Amino acid sequence: MKKTLLAALLLGVMAAPAMANLQLAQKNNCLSCHAVDKKVVGPAYKDVAKKYASDKGAEAKLIAKVKAGGSGNWGPVPMPPNAQVSDADVKTLVKWILSLK
Ligand code: HEC
Repeated sequence: MKKTLLAALLLGVMAAPAMANLQLAQKNNCLSCHAVDKKVVGPAYKDVAKKYASDKGAEAKLIAKVKAGGSGNWGPVPMPPNAQVSDADVKTLVKWILSLK
């Protein structure tokens, strides 16, 4: 009983940051077009991370792109502007997306 509790607690602690980011993406409606590891309307977040892995300016570029929307990097389908999402949330989300492997 104690062991199970401890395991659950540990699992919770380890999964917490990733879960929080996923929930943030969910809350801001990103997940209606994106998933972490498969293409939906927009590219999989893991593919985004791969594409920009060696691009040092990617964070700033993607923050601007998420806010303003746009197309052309993954195909003809545009991402609509996400102007309602706070700057802090966009930054957290982009950092998280770029950290995915
Ligand atoms: C209505 C659908 C939709 C929603 C909602 C949406 N996206 Fe996108 N997203 C797209 C599409 C389509 C693309 C591909 C755009 C392109 O080809 O340049 C994309 C591209 C991206 C990219 C890569 C941009 C690039 O230039 O490589 C990131 C990062 C991203 N989205 C993050 C987000 C985040 C964070 C949110 C939530 C705040 C979000 N998206 C909400 C459809 C969406």
